[in-house]
Amino acid sequence: MSISIRPFDGNFGAEVIGFDFETNGNEDTFQLLRDAWVEHAVICIRHQKIEPEFFLKLAKIFGEPIPQLINHKAFALPSHPVISVLSSGHVDTLGSGKPINRGGSWHSDHSNTPQPPSGTILHALQLPSQGGNTRFTNQTLAYENLSSDMKKKIEGLKAKHVYQSKYSTRKMPTRSKVDEAISPTSFHPIARTHPVTGRKAIYLNPVRTETIEGMNETDAQVLLDELLAHSAQDEFQYSHEWKSDDVLLWDNRQTMHMAAADSHLYDRERRMHRLMIKGDTPF
Ligand SMILES: [Fe+2]
Repeated sequence: MSISIRPFDGNFGAEVIGFDFETNGNEDTFQLLRDAWVEHAVICIRHQKIEPEFFLKLAKIFGEPIPQLINHKAFALPSHPVISVLSSGHVDTLGSGKPINRGGSWHSDHSNTPQPPSGTILHALQLPSQGGNTRFTNQTLAYENLSSDMKKKIEGLKAKHVYQSKYSTRKMPTRSKVDEAISPTSFHPIARTHPVTGRKAIYLNPVRTETIEGMNETDAQVLLDELLAHSAQDEFQYSHEWKSDDVLLWDNRQTMHMAAADSHLYDRERRMHRLMIKGDTPF
């Protein structure tokens, strides 16, 4: 049996039906999955009742899983530390001790690193009966719908990505002093070229982008806010309503994402495993 790939009804994204390592886990299928990931930007592989070992194996179809950075130890799965655990019950252990809002505003994962992950994969282990969607923007569509003046304006500009932008309203987990000393800062192009498709996308991360090279911070924030408002328009969004055993993979080179800020609706813990795939230097 081969897999089928069905585009979602929304603006982008697709679901993969019928994938199973036992019956069709071969190189032809893996290539279909890799192609679908790049073409649709977000893919959902349904019905993956799998253990961490198989989650890792699945991630390796798309590249090399990488360690997740700051505070990783606090959130790592003890048996497989490269896998991060996302739980609605987590608190900021080194800071306030209060619940932390992980992923609760638009961002692109680990963008302060020199080679941010090309992809991120979540495996849904337990879901509340309502709430908890993950929302995405398609930054390629957003770029292609910019005015030609704005395309010219951002051409060649690089944004400075830090662990925690002082302008972000969402706070990242508190780091240890050791983590603070090793948190990277990177400059990445705002108009980023996808290494596979050659198409450009707007590369933003409001949690981490603090300024733009060669521009004063006030002007930089105005421009970044304008690009964010443009990118977050409904016509560039897809909202994923999770089902148990979904594996959701997205392409960080052409999307932003956020957890819907509706944890007040949860009737039980929302728990997921996360892996990230090694990326290239953005250009
Ligand atoms: Fe994220």
